[in-house]
Amino acid sequence: MRVLSGIQPTGRFHWGNYFGAIQQYIALQTNEQAFYFIADLHALTSVRDRKALQDNTWNAAIDLLALGLNPEHAALFRQSDVPEVTELMWLLMTVTQFSLLEKCHSYKDKIAKGIAADAGLFTYPVLMAADILLYDSDVVPVGADQIQHLEVTRDIAQRFNSIYGGEHLHLPTARVLEEGAKVVGTDGEKMSKSYGNTIEIFEADKPLRKKIMSIKTDSTPMEAPKNPETCSVYTLFKLFATPDQQAALADRYRAGGMGYGEAKQAVYDAAMAYFAPARTRRAELVADPGYVEEVLQAGARKARAKGQEVLQRVRRACGIGCSAG
Ligand code: ADP
Ligand code: TRP
Repeated sequence: MRVLSGIQPTGRFHWGNYFGAIQQYIALQTNEQAFYFIADLHALTSVRDRKALQDNTWNAAIDLLALGLNPEHAALFRQSDVPEVTELMWLLMTVTQFSLLEKCHSYKDKIAKGIAADAGLFTYPVLMAADILLYDSDVVPVGADQIQHLEVTRDIAQRFNSIYGGEHLHLPTARVLEEGAKVVGTDGEKMSKSYGNTIEIFEADKPLRKKIMSIKTDSTPMEAPKNPETCSVYTLFKLFATPDQQAALADRYRAGGMGYGEAKQAVYDAAMAYFAPARTRRAELVADPGYVEEVLQAGARKARAKGQEVLQRVRRACGIGCSAG
């Protein structure tokens, strides 16, 4: 079984990305054949700064490796290192109905926010379909917001298969990432780059502390008992703490006499301890860019071998690149 997923390099990864997606990708790599890629072509729909895109892509690779993505188990590659994906996208585009793309929430939401509608944004789901179909992927772990894109992918594949008569494209299934993993941001809303409430995994000590100290709390005075269950600080602490540590902090909330500053310090200490091995590993990777590039190229070679095989099959199905007779 092949598991495949992509993540856009639109900024540095935050706690929401880790607990909501990255940790789950990493857990899947041991039992399945895994393909994970950095969706730099998709990121072009929102990042229009060469240096930022380069830095984000490179940092995404280093962060994923530091966090435990193991290149012996999973192929890690840059989307753009497999040019076959853009050719497949065109072949798919010719069978994709306009109305199918017009229905996509992610597109409609962006338009509603006043973001200019270019063809890249509109056809984003077709590139995503190509990402998935190029490798005969079986399972695609994604957040709930991407389920519709998976349905579009299946729709396009079915249409292609029905037009060209045959099982040319393999139908994938979505595996929705655990909902329980929805991480709150510093303002108590869902942590997201678009809300400016993120805490980055590899943030330097001082700004990390500052961000944690800025987590919004209510104005219950220091002496008064507090409810841990409604507090973002406690909710975030739980991500990093053992059940015993969670119970101990919850008791201190309920007993009163503890200010939020102390609870925030506990989050800082717990997060630092939790990500300490990844930080060490990250520093080693930063010092060895040759190794990181090698991993990306080996991943791309593996992905390309499969992609070329599938693209050949699809080209043949629609009569591209075949000589007459
Ligand atoms: P952002 O909302 O910050 O732009 P992305 O949309 O790039 O993040 O998220 C990439 C993946 O990380 C998503 O597919 C989603 O599964 C996961 N993710 C993002 N934010 C959170 C969150 N707050 N809680 C849980 N998972 C999240
Ligand atoms: N659209 C996905 C997101 O924003 C990223 C992505 C691009 C992807 N191509 C993919 C995810 C293929 C899974 C499979 O999260």
